Amino acid sequence: MFPSIRLSRHRQTAALRNFNRETDLLPRHFIQPLFVREGIEADQPINALPGVSQLTVKSAVARAHQAAKSGVSAVILFGIPVLKDARGTSASDPNGIVQETIRAIKDAVPELAVIADCCLCEYTDHGHCGIWNGPDQWNNDATLARLADIAQSYADAGADIVAPSGMIDGMVSGIRKGLDDHNHHHVGIMSYAIKYASAFYGPFRHAAGSSEAFVGDRNHHQLAPTQRQEGLREAALDVNEGADYLIVKPAQHYMDMIRDLRNQTQVMIVAYQVSGEYVMIKTAAQQGVMNEQAAFLEVFTGLRRAGASSIIAYNAIEVAQVLKNRLKGDD
Ligand code: PBG
Repeated sequence: MFPSIRLSRHRQTAALRNFNRETDLLPRHFIQPLFVREGIEADQPINALPGVSQLTVKSAVARAHQAAKSGVSAVILFGIPVLKDARGTSASDPNGIVQETIRAIKDAVPELAVIADCCLCEYTDHGHCGIWNGPDQWNNDATLARLADIAQSYADAGADIVAPSGMIDGMVSGIRKGLDDHNHHHVGIMSYAIKYASAFYGPFRHAAGSSEAFVGDRNHHQLAPTQRQEGLREAALDVNEGADYLIVKPAQHYMDMIRDLRNQTQVMIVAYQVSGEYVMIKTAAQQGVMNEQAAFLEVFTGLRRAGASSIIAYNAIEVAQVLKNRLKGDD
């Protein structure tokens, strides 16, 4: 009891604070998202997502080099195709924009892990994450065959991991079977298992060029923010279906889910700081009311404390550089 016990005793010097630190935040904990756009000659800054651009294949490779150099473990790729149609045909095109980028990065930066986001919403003209034939005509099971084809084409191109992000029932087992049937036993699945229907995806829809024709919402397949047990059930099902990694998204506003999941599963948990969460901090910093670097580091440390093994962050490379310099003692 006080006065013999004083916890501030552990905080008196930098050495003691370092010695007592419970949570580490290191460059290797980060995954950098990259948006690659077909048919552009130069990078296009995304107004809705300050600091992020839609990239050509060439500049995606340059970013991949920077990622590896800063100690980031992986990139996760999102594609913006020229052609959109009802079935999202270009998503599984062997010469599609993501497939080309995977090959180029694997060739130039083999030490970096390449994850390919696997969803139809960027590729369909109606903007839904799968086969949709009009209001109330969502076809979960027909979507599964498309996802298996897309995952297979990403694996053919050399992806290490595919990341189905649509919250489609059966997506993990469907993709696993498709991969195994084509000898891609070594390709992992990172499932967006706990994905909430969230207002915080707003800026992403601009970044990924999701169809302007989109009508409706994703409430029939993504989780409602009220759901905790149901989220854990989703995660348990995905683990049973063979998921190698689980994503919680959005991460920052759902840290309770990260912790619950950490306590009940052995699978690696990935926290996704989504576009709206990123923009909130960026905007506050631009207004001069908050220190950007300190705020990001605090949130990312919080995600690690909650139990995340890795973090998907739009400024992953930048943050990893800061952390790397700190480790070197330059900062
Ligand atoms: C679907 C996908 C989305 C995000 C990542 N993958 C959009 C959605 O579900 O509507 C959102 C990520 C973010 O907001 O940063 N391909």
